[in-house]
Amino acid sequence: MTDKQYVLAIDQGTTSTRAIIVDHGGNVIGSGQREHEQIMPKAGWVEHDAVEIWRNTRDVVGRALADADINRHSLAAVGITNQRETAVVWDKNTGEPVYNAIVWQDTRTQAIVDRLAENGGTERYKDRVGLPLATYFAGPKVTWILENVEGARERAEAGDLLMGTIDTWLTWNLTGGTSGGVHVTDVTNASRTLMMDLETLSWQEDIAADLGIPMSMLPEIRSSAEVYGEGTAQSLLIGTPIAGMLGDQQAATFGQACFEVGMAKNTYGTGNFMLINTGTEAVKSENGLLTTVAYKIGDADPIYALEGSIAVTGSLVQWIRDNLGLISDASQIEAMAASVEDNGGAYFVPAFSGLFAPHWRPDARGALVGLTRYVNKGHIARAVLEATAFQTREVNDAMNADSGVDLKELKVDGGMVVNELLMQFQADILGVPVVRPKVAETTAMGSAYAAGIAVGFWKGEQDVIDNWAEDKRWEPQMDEKERERTYRLWQKAVTRTLDWVD
Ligand code: G3P
Repeated sequence: MTDKQYVLAIDQGTTSTRAIIVDHGGNVIGSGQREHEQIMPKAGWVEHDAVEIWRNTRDVVGRALADADINRHSLAAVGITNQRETAVVWDKNTGEPVYNAIVWQDTRTQAIVDRLAENGGTERYKDRVGLPLATYFAGPKVTWILENVEGARERAEAGDLLMGTIDTWLTWNLTGGTSGGVHVTDVTNASRTLMMDLETLSWQEDIAADLGIPMSMLPEIRSSAEVYGEGTAQSLLIGTPIAGMLGDQQAATFGQACFEVGMAKNTYGTGNFMLINTGTEAVKSENGLLTTVAYKIGDADPIYALEGSIAVTGSLVQWIRDNLGLISDASQIEAMAASVEDNGGAYFVPAFSGLFAPHWRPDARGALVGLTRYVNKGHIARAVLEATAFQTREVNDAMNADSGVDLKELKVDGGMVVNELLMQFQADILGVPVVRPKVAETTAMGSAYAAGIAVGFWKGEQDVIDNWAEDKRWEPQMDEKERERTYRLWQKAVTRTLDWVD
């Protein structure tokens, strides 16, 4: 084992694919990254080319190995983490997807969701799967493909088509594709499909039948840390065990060492995803949160989480850059926001995909309210950043209500945590400290740890705790009255976005 000094993690996200190489101390010694195309054929539709994603994955693995100046012989294992809910359907004989991957943000399945909700409402499966019926989840996306791509249903029924979230698609390809690729997913990704029972961790045939998805298309559900298969020639990773698999938000929870009940992390990416560890109990939410599997290490019991998923946070900054041209680089938003004292009365509710947690309102659309002639672009930049913090507060309040205990501090990660103004405002609006770790790559690290633990490279969770270190902490500074005043206005702004879609 002495030559196996590193673990490679692949982080396949919504906008880019990244590979990192990690040593035993949790240091990143090499990396590679590539963006992929966001395909938006219609309002509300978001697609990715799954073949491009697979090509980019191979490319970034090569780049990371070159950057670290090592080859596969130095790798103990490979971990995979991924944008969740994004669904791919492909032909197992050719390896060709029958349609682009339908991305988690895509809302085209609303009619399918409404149809399913006719019998029992949007919560009809919630007790078993932890999720309300919503366009966000993977299952109805597969239904859409089977109903709308010519010939897909017949091919699926003939047993020629496979489905998967991105973890499944990548693992199938990494382990040989049409020549023997393994068709698996892990419990965390499976818990985002609407089809997995949280207690038995098995597919629910009746729900798959309601969705019109043949069981033959579904991958086998496995734990988040075990050897699923080995890399093959086409992946640059011949003979390397693929041994860790977690949805990206669960991976970040693991990488942030949130192993105790009540520990929470919030990831600031295209959207925000806050997860709180609830231990071996799958707590059902009364306040608009999702119940999900946080991780399952080999044969150990699954650990569950409550999750607040927010669709649009970082992608609002991108929208300001790409659609309005107010900034030319996302990093400029902080200086623009800092050019003014406060939001000037402006509130921006980015309900671009409706509102996710805790509202689950597909009929909502974005709104910028509170405008007067006084408002300038600095105020709007501030409102953009504040939207992220306010949405997090909504989710945090729901978590406090569901668990009956108030959060003591929040561990943060993701691209936006370099934004000091936002982090301070986040601490202010939550009223609890916000803590950023030294190694910001918590998502990729989480899947690296899972893979490394599976092959004995790391002993277990204690190694993750030992490698985690605090970088910076923001204490709340805003006075209580101001916090509640501005939050009340935010809540009023949210009401202006509802019931917008005819
Ligand atoms: O549920 C969607 C989430 O997994 C996407 O994460 O980081 O790719 O925006 P990210």
